[in-house]
Formats: sequence, structure tokens, C-alpha cells
Amino acid sequence: KFQTPAPFKETVKFNIFVFQVSKKDFEGFKNLFHRFLQVKGPSVEWIKIQRPPEDSIQPYDKIAARGLPDNVANSLNKLVVVKLNGGLGTSMGCKGPKSLISVRNENTFLDLTVQQIEHLNKTYNTDVPLVLMNSFNTDEDTKKILQKYTHHRVKIHTFNQSRYPRVNKESLLPVSTNLSMNGQNAEGWYPPGHGDIYASFYNSGLLDQLIEQGKEYIFVSNIDNLGATVDLHILHHLVSQPNGKRCEFVMEVTDKTRADVKGGTLIQYEGKLRLLEIAQVPKTHVDEFKSVSKFKIFNTNNLWISLPAIKRLQEQNAMDMEIIVNPKTLDGGQNVIQLETAVGAAIKCFDNALGINVPRSRFLPVKTTSDLLLVMSNLYSLEAGSLTMSPKREFPTTPHVKLGSSFTKVQEYLIRFESIPDMLELDHLTVSGDVTFGKNVSLKGTVIIIANHGDRIDIPAGSMLENKIVSGNLRI
Ligand code: UTP
Repeated sequence: KFQTPAPFKETVKFNIFVFQVSKKDFEGFKNLFHRFLQVKGPSVEWIKIQRPPEDSIQPYDKIAARGLPDNVANSLNKLVVVKLNGGLGTSMGCKGPKSLISVRNENTFLDLTVQQIEHLNKTYNTDVPLVLMNSFNTDEDTKKILQKYTHHRVKIHTFNQSRYPRVNKESLLPVSTNLSMNGQNAEGWYPPGHGDIYASFYNSGLLDQLIEQGKEYIFVSNIDNLGATVDLHILHHLVSQPNGKRCEFVMEVTDKTRADVKGGTLIQYEGKLRLLEIAQVPKTHVDEFKSVSKFKIFNTNNLWISLPAIKRLQEQNAMDMEIIVNPKTLDGGQNVIQLETAVGAAIKCFDNALGINVPRSRFLPVKTTSDLLLVMSNLYSLEAGSLTMSPKREFPTTPHVKLGSSFTKVQEYLIRFESIPDMLELDHLTVSGDVTFGKNVSLKGTVIIIANHGDRIDIPAGSMLENKIVSGNLRI
């Protein structure tokens, strides 16, 4: 009898696998693209937008006031933590997954996440798993690193989100001519936003597996939000609702300040709670959308979602999210678009959706090196993977920090600080140009340091700058 040689079998298996994955991606893209072609005009009629009803966004304190049951472990064993890990560290000048950038005491975003969940599991003797949604951009590097957590008390699962083709802005034809992602074709593909989580999670089989294990809710958040820790009060609120009234989706929102004007907000639309993103707002209403008085809160992207509800909506083909058209220019100058969706946009599909207005501390995103400076400083202390603001700071607000372009890349930023300055009494810091900081510098009040083109300013070790403007040339 003819026996298929083993290596050949493996190759066939591999190719079938690749084919199946691509087929699912292809189907998903076809649907999205088809919808994109059909959509005419804006996705919301401004006149139909209403303020969310009183009880649809509850203050966090009201939820927390109900207290916790004796057996918190029962609730925790119904929970899965999911981190959105499809993004790269490009905007901070790093290669590879953003989650692998060191943010505090050599710990990466991923290290801190693992430490938080491990602490939870040890404290309550539970087995809350961590699920990472990777993309083709982050999967390989992330998996290599995961080996280091083998002996930690956290079971880590991964699944991959879809890979869709970028299309030329004018012709709408795909940029890439084959499935390869190497060389010329590397720029032809993209991960289609975090709204892809529903389909990819379902298609991976992991969703069913977790439901079979008795898991009921996922807590989803951006991996770069260091404030997104598991909140036991919100979890308890969810699992203690009577059947039939189960809240299938919670969006954590927080009060908007003038720095957050671009964040998505919750509105009431056609009788349902809905996420309104700036991209959906007609030009004539953008200022109104940004106003802090009309739209008071914004989405932190910390979301609690029912697993059986995701399964139901996927199977009924009822997961409906507005398409975000993201324009890009490729290295060669070609203008392309990529079609994306946002995870929070599906809120309108779920039953008994709720907004919870949480303290600002649950939204601590690190998008730039200015954010990084804050979380590396003595404004925060680190315990079991969680950052908390130092009680030594008199006001609970964070200072406004604006570092110039010489600080954009993490590597360059790190070289410019011999040690991270004391920032406990800082309100505002602006730094521009070729500036370095010596050891043990202390910054208080409003500090502005500007080195003009060709100049350099070295802030001497041990300096204390309080309400100061420094400019010119100062080399040491
Ligand atoms: P974004 O890059 O979308 O940041 O990543 P943002 O624009 O500030 O945030 P949003 O979109 O308004 O919430 C947010 C998180 O989503 C992940 C990133 O890795 C990050 O953790 N992400 C983004 C994915 O996992 N897949 C994607 O396709 C896009």
C-alpha cells in the first residue's frame, strides 16, 4: 500500500490550515467590503441623537456601594480577561508588538497584565484565564515571549484576528497581488480593528471552549491601558443580575476633559444605547460633539461582554458595527484605505446594555512617550502589576506633559533622562528641542524648557525647577 510520507502529510495539513484561515478572512472581508459599497451617507442622523436615559449610565460608586459577596471566587471563575494585542509599537518608534514595550521597572504591558491576573488567582484561589487577541503583526513575537510565563498561575490562550487586504483609494482594488506578506506585499495587509474580536474569537473555537468551561463574561480592554484591571464590583454586578434581565454588555465610560474631546461617546439612538465616534459625526456638528457640556463622557474601551450573547449574535449574523474607513499612505506614496470596526460599536446589538461611569484612574493609556514619562515617575506606585497614584500627590489629577519630537521614540526618550524627575508637584511640563535631564531633577508647577534649533539644554543633576521657563543654550 502507498503510504504518504510524514513530512508531506505535514505540508498538506499546513496548507489546508492556511487555506481555511484565508478562506474565513476572505469571507469576512467580502462581507465588510460589500457593506462598505452599499453604505450611502452618514451612519447617524444628527436629529435622532438623544441623551442616554438616566439609568443607562450608572455612577461607579452606586455599583460599588452594593458591596461584595463572601465568595468572590464564584464570580471570578465565570470571568475571562481579554487583552487587545493586535497593535504594534510603531507610534512610539518601537518594532514589534506594543505590549512588549517596557513601561515600568523593566516590566512590559504584558508582564504587568500577567502579574495582575496572577495576583487575583493567588488571592482568591481562582483560575481566571488571560486571552490575547493577536494579529498577524504581533502573533509570532508574542508567542515567543509567552514561554516565560509557563510557571505563572495564569493560563494564557491566544487567537488571531483576521488579515484583510488594503485597497487603493481610487480604484478600490487590492494593493497586494498575492497572499505573501513579505517584501513588496507586506504593506498590502492589515488587521481590521478591534471590532474584529467577535468574529475571530468565535471562528477560533476558543469562545465555545470557554463557554463549555462555565465562563460567562469577558473583560476586554486595550493592552496599553494600565488602568484596566479586573474590577470585582462591576463583575459582581453582572453575575448577580436575575436571569432574563442579564446585562450583556457594559461599557466603562469616564468624564470627558478638554484633552479627551476625540473619544467616542454614548448616545441613545432608535431606543438603544449606541457608541458615537467622531468619524461618524457630520462636519457641521464636530464642535458640538467635542463639547464637554453636551457629551460629558467618553468610552474607555474597558468592556464587559457576555460570552453566550456573543455566540448568539454571531450565529444569528446580527453583530452590526459601523464601518470606519481609515485612509493611509503607503511608503511608495500610494493612497489606500483600510476598512475597520470598533469593539464598542456592537453595544447596540446586546440586550440590557449599560454604561458605568468609572473613576479616571481606570483609563491610563500609554500612547506616547509623554504618557510613558508619567507612568514611569513617582506619581505612581506599582503593586502586583497595578499602578496607583501616589497618596503624596495633593491633587488626584495627572500633570499635562508635552514632550517634543526629539522624545518621540522610546530609545531616544530614555537616553535623555538619566533618571525620571520627581513629578509629585508638577502641573504642566512642555519640553521642546535637544534637551536632556540629569539625575534627581525635581519639577514643580509649570515648567517649560525650549531649546531652539542648534541649541542644547542639559538640565543639571539635582536641579529643582519650579514655575520656570528655560530657553537658550545650557550645556554641562
Ligand atoms: P488603537 O491603536 O486602536 O488605539 O488600539 P486607539 O485608537 O487609541 O484606541 P481606540 O481604537 O480608540 O480604542 C487600541 C487597542 O486595540 C488593539 C491595540 O493593540 C490596542 O491594545 N488593536 C487595535 C487590535 O488588537 N487590533 C486592531 O486591529 C487594532
